[in-house]
Amino acid sequence: MKYQKLGKTDLNASVISFGTWGIGGGSVWSDLSVGVGEVESLLDAAGDLGINYIDTAPVYGTGVSEELLGKALKNGRRSKFLLQTKCSLNWRNEGGNFHYERDGYTVENDTSAKAVRKDVEDSLRRMQTDYLDVLVVHYVCKSWPVEETMGALQAMVKEGKIRAVGLSNSKPGDLDEYEKYGTVALVQEQYSLLAPYHGCEYFPTAQKHNAVFQVYGALEEGFLTAPDYVDRSFPKGDVRGKLPWIHEPIRGEIHKLFQVMQPLTEKYACSYSNLVQAWTLKQFPNLNLLTGFRHIETMENTCRCLDITLSDEDARLLSEAAKPAQVKELDK
Ligand SMILES: NC(=O)c1ccc[n+]([C@@H]2O[C@H](COP(=O)([O-])OP(=O)(O)OC[C@H]3O[C@@H](n4cnc5c(N)ncnc54)[C@H](OP(=O)(O)O)[C@@H]3O)[C@@H](O)[C@H]2O)c1
Repeated sequence: MKYQKLGKTDLNASVISFGTWGIGGGSVWSDLSVGVGEVESLLDAAGDLGINYIDTAPVYGTGVSEELLGKALKNGRRSKFLLQTKCSLNWRNEGGNFHYERDGYTVENDTSAKAVRKDVEDSLRRMQTDYLDVLVVHYVCKSWPVEETMGALQAMVKEGKIRAVGLSNSKPGDLDEYEKYGTVALVQEQYSLLAPYHGCEYFPTAQKHNAVFQVYGALEEGFLTAPDYVDRSFPKGDVRGKLPWIHEPIRGEIHKLFQVMQPLTEKYACSYSNLVQAWTLKQFPNLNLLTGFRHIETMENTCRCLDITLSDEDARLLSEAAKPAQVKELDK
């Protein structure tokens, strides 16, 4: 495993981090229901592989992901991991901005000081812990002053409830603004071979503030793991059914991309996923590869991407081959 400091903090995080949206299940990740025993095994496997950094959020399974982690982090596991969760999206019906409706819950976005404090209390309770290593603002929004939001986050750092702050679904200008009122350790943003534009625009500002660029969705929720994934169908409500990759002409273009990748998987003796992950890691020096896992095998396989040194020429080849399938904007 490789490790990196999270921005200007002294938190030493594994470059591969464990994303737990999928273990929240529900209609969004509809094909697998994960229980506490499986999460314990995933955490133990992560520990063995050197992965020490977990990402979750209150809304993943509307509390389910955090609750499962809370139960599984008992028995001495908590202290082995950097635990990151998020604030701003909640289903308390206290009057934030409407965000979405899912599984019978209305989720609102609220970055007021009162709301983010309540979010932290709720997460600490669900995860049965008394501190969070990183708290990420899940959806940066302009309805409340940044000074107020960051003021509340900085106060919670002083109180020892959280150790570092991150932003997600933000723009470079948001990072500039938040940095006026404190330190942002990382930005967690969508970035992939199929949707690279937001990241490319963001990299210089992340570098300027020495913030880690934590990528989510590098494998596009599985679509970049194997050619036949794009031919799967998903029930209504499943995140994968809403992505543009299943529709023509993009689906056909992704198949062509896999044809370009195939000989490279032989050259580097690796999986398609590893090739995509090695490409992703090459795009920014201070990148963190946040990857969703519900199986130990996919976690183990992912760690192998760190051993691949993709040549500049092959990285360019992948970038070019992906262009016909790329989209400018992607909302998950
Ligand atoms: N801030 C935000 O708004 C936001 C949005 C989306 C995601 N996230 C975070 O980012 C994390 C990652 O995103 P994601 O989970 O949506 O998508 P992802 O990491 O692009 O894809 C996850 C899928 O890829 C599969 N996979 C992972 N490694 C693999 C490998 N080596 N070989 C084959 N398959 C592999 C997983 O399989 P298995 O399930 O079979 O293990 C899972 O189905 C989330 O879990 C969440 O923590 C944040």
